[in-house]
Amino acid sequence: MRQIGVGVIGTGFMGNAHSIAYSASASVFGTTLRPRLEIVCDLSPDRASQRATNLGFSNYTAEWIEVVNNPAVELISVCTPNDTHAKISIAALSAGKHVWCEKPMSTSLEDSAAMAAAAANSASKTIMGYNYTKNPAVTHARHLIEQGAIGRVAGFFCRYDVDNEADGNRPWSWRMSRDKSGTGANGDVLSHVISVAHYLTDSTITRLSGDIAIVHPERKDPEAPGTTKTVDNDDMVSALVHFSNGVRGHIGASRVTWGRKCGLRWEVHGTEGTIIFDQERLNEIQLFTRQNDPATDGFRTILTGPLHPPYSAFLPNGGHSLGYMDVKICELHDLLTSIETGEDVWPNFEAGLIIEKVMDAVDRSAREQRWVNVE
Ligand SMILES: NC(=O)c1ccc[n+]([C@@H]2O[C@H](COP(=O)([O-])OP(=O)(O)OC[C@H]3O[C@@H](n4cnc5c(N)ncnc54)[C@H](O)[C@@H]3O)[C@@H](O)[C@H]2O)c1
Repeated sequence: MRQIGVGVIGTGFMGNAHSIAYSASASVFGTTLRPRLEIVCDLSPDRASQRATNLGFSNYTAEWIEVVNNPAVELISVCTPNDTHAKISIAALSAGKHVWCEKPMSTSLEDSAAMAAAAANSASKTIMGYNYTKNPAVTHARHLIEQGAIGRVAGFFCRYDVDNEADGNRPWSWRMSRDKSGTGANGDVLSHVISVAHYLTDSTITRLSGDIAIVHPERKDPEAPGTTKTVDNDDMVSALVHFSNGVRGHIGASRVTWGRKCGLRWEVHGTEGTIIFDQERLNEIQLFTRQNDPATDGFRTILTGPLHPPYSAFLPNGGHSLGYMDVKICELHDLLTSIETGEDVWPNFEAGLIIEKVMDAVDRSAREQRWVNVE
């Protein structure tokens, strides 16, 4: 069993999820690469020290470059706000480290392209945090599609709505700034939709007509009581889309939809059937296949279990249910396998850049109010 030293930069929601995955992956998968929690980084020494204690890291720092330069670290998680992903990832790749970077890649297409170029020029492995493609239920849906269970795929339809920012009284945050975050619901939420679209159709979105809207244009400034700050990126985003393999559909996302907690719902329409998924019921898919007797046909629920890899690594019996953190462990397992075998992993920075190009096209199309090609 070989150990691999890991460093995590940023210790909020995602830094937590990555660290938990590092702690659990070898126990779950019995892999020969066992992550060793080497060093964790956050903005202040106090916070970094506290997080090192909580999460089980041997060392901490408030300077991300110290993680990059640490010779005991082979793999780095980038779990900081979007405007830092490019500089950290590129420095890490230059230092010969493997990189697990949270989505979206960056705040501009130029930075994302530079990340993909740095990965292409390095022998290191990269993966973007598009975890909704790593759920055994979703993997099984792709398997069914590949086997022809629903015939030829004709349509892909997906929305991802959340209520994170539905309350107009919530204060302004970095996510509402084009400068700090890039686009809004587009990069934050629709990016996941695009990853699922590409994964399930085994193709890419090539042409689209986008639309964006800001629902709450001013938010309370958390640093200056009594004043507001302008929101300059999208609260809601939608697009009609054409895929390279002829599939058509629509995609959409919102960060201001009351009641939707993790409302990622997709449908794949085929010539012989349909598959439906809802992330708020992440352990099941609904499958309709045309039957001889229309009086008895209907959607059936497939609950995930040991027959749907890699579910059995976690649990011996079906229906016991995996959760968000388990799916993050599946994502890490794909990366560790790639590091071990030298095989490519999806979605690496190259595949991530294709997703960014679709996001950019949605934004461009919405601003120019016309159909555009994804470049
Ligand atoms: N894959 C997913 O499902 C998913 C879910 C949520 C967030 N994300 C992505 O993960 C990233 C982080 O989001 P989050 O929700 O964890 O944010 P967060 O605000 O909870 O955490 C960010 C952390 O990074 C720290 N930080 C900021 N700048 C830093 C720097 N220069 N050096 C070191 N630490 C720094 C902050 O102090 C904070 O602890 C974003 O890119 C976001 O889009 C992905």
